[in-house]
Amino acid sequence: MFKHAIVRLPCEALINGLTEAKLGKPDYSKALLQHDDYVSALKECGLNVTVLKALDEFPDSCFVEDVALMTPHCAVLTRPGAPSRRGEVEHIADVVKIFYDRVEHIIAPGQVEAGDIMMVGDHYYIGLSSRTNREGANQLISILEKYGMSGSMVEMAEMLHLKTGLGYLENNVLLACGEFISKSEFQNYNIIKINEKQSYSANSVWINDIVLVPSGFPETAKAIGDAGYRVREVDVSEFRKLDGGLSCLSLRF
Ligand code: GLY
Repeated sequence: MFKHAIVRLPCEALINGLTEAKLGKPDYSKALLQHDDYVSALKECGLNVTVLKALDEFPDSCFVEDVALMTPHCAVLTRPGAPSRRGEVEHIADVVKIFYDRVEHIIAPGQVEAGDIMMVGDHYYIGLSSRTNREGANQLISILEKYGMSGSMVEMAEMLHLKTGLGYLENNVLLACGEFISKSEFQNYNIIKINEKQSYSANSVWINDIVLVPSGFPETAKAIGDAGYRVREVDVSEFRKLDGGLSCLSLRF
């Protein structure tokens, strides 16, 4: 179960965030309203939510998930692969230290964005993407092992982040789309297959037996509901325009 979440308010420069989505510029006012509803959803899941101020110099800084990994035993400050995002790390460090005594770091030439990390109990799958490299993954695995946890690397080719196409819903249930459906390391999970049209909704998030699902993906919402979960839909259309999803917008721990 998670107790806490950390989010950061979107800044006005959000409209200039990194993207390959080709869905147009986000509407900033709408993004603020959607972010507010996202915070409400986190609270409905029973989380105490810390809301950090907007950081105008970092367009992508509301996607806090990428800059830290919060495990039950330590926190890890990452080193994002996107150069424009590296400066976000020092801004999350102070708040991470409020919650954790043990804070580890990924250092150069390692690169890790925690959108590439999927937690399954004490094991962490680490996607090797354009943002997370093998050196970063090796550093992370060493850190995890120091605290009695484990990690393994997942080769990937199609998606921005590992959790762009995967979502672990606990109870051995895994949402997967595209290249992840057939990967050997995931074949022991009960996979809910997400088709190409609904692929954005693979980034749904389990929080304390409620699953946050992006609005507009009824087939995914139904499949998750049919699997026995309570579904809370959240409209994140403006963040989708920046390749961002429900998991990217918070740290949950
Ligand atoms: N726009 C989110 C990212 O690309 O990191």
